[in-house]
Amino acid sequence: MPEKIIKSVDRVKDIGEVFTPKKTVDFMLDQPEVKEKVNSLTATFLEPSAGEGAFLVEILKRKLLYAKSLANTEKDLQNRFLQVLSTLYGIELMEDNVKMLVINMTNTFRDIYFSTVKLEQQNQKVLRSANVIISANMAQGNALTRKTATGSPIIFSEWEPVGKNKVQRTEYTFDSIVENSGPIGVAREHSEQLNLFADHEIVPKNPKTKKYISVKWEDIYKQLTEIV
Ligand SMILES: C[S@@+](CC[C@H](N)C(=O)[O-])C[C@H]1O[C@@H](n2cnc3c(N)ncnc32)[C@H](O)[C@@H]1O
Repeated sequence: MPEKIIKSVDRVKDIGEVFTPKKTVDFMLDQPEVKEKVNSLTATFLEPSAGEGAFLVEILKRKLLYAKSLANTEKDLQNRFLQVLSTLYGIELMEDNVKMLVINMTNTFRDIYFSTVKLEQQNQKVLRSANVIISANMAQGNALTRKTATGSPIIFSEWEPVGKNKVQRTEYTFDSIVENSGPIGVAREHSEQLNLFADHEIVPKNPKTKKYISVKWEDIYKQLTEIV
C-alpha cells in the first residue's frame, strides 16, 4: 500500500501537514552526524513538529537496536531500553496526530521489547514505565508559543541516569529549556500531559514543591515524589 503523505489539502494549507516518506527518513538518519547521535544511549532528540512520529519512531527502532548491542544481561537490556526511550521528545499541534504519535511510539517499544526479551524475563513494570516516559515526552502543543492547547506551558522531563540502575526525573518547562533557566521545581501529580491511559487530565489542587525520587528504571511508573 502506498504511504499516506497528506490527510487533506486543507490541512496542508492550514498547518503545513505533509508526512515524510520512510525513504527520506532513512536517508536523513543515515547521515554520519545523525547516525552518531542515534548510536548513543544519552543523545537526545526533540522533534518540534512530530506529526505521527515518522522520525521519532525510526530513531526509537534504531536506538533500541543499539541498546541491544550493548547489553550484557536481560536486566541491563531492559534498563537500556527505557533509557533510550527517555531520550526522545516530541511536540505536535494536532490532537489526532499526537494520539497516533503516542500509539506508534508505544507499539514500537512493545513490539521490539517482546521480540527481544525472553518470555520468562518480560516484565510488565518495564512496559508501564515506558508508557509514563512516552506520555511525559510527547506533548500536544504549539512549539512556537511553547504552550499546550489550554494555554499552560509545555513541560518536559529530564531522565538522568543515576549509577548503573537508577534514574532521576526532573521537570522543566519547554520555555526554560529554550531559555536555559533551570527546572520548575514542582513535580506535577501524575505528570502525563497527554495521558492516553486515563480519561482526564489530573490537576493538583494544592501544588507543593516536590521532586521525583530517584528510582530503578523499571519503577518509573510509580511516579514517586517527595516534598522538599
Ligand atoms: C510537515 S509535517 C511533518 C510531520 C512529521 N515530522 C513528519 O516528518 O512526518 C508538520 C507537522 O507539524 C505540525 N505543526 C504545525 N504547526 C505546529 C506548531 N506550531 N507546533 C507544533 N506542531 C506544529 C503539523 O500538525 C504537522 O503534523
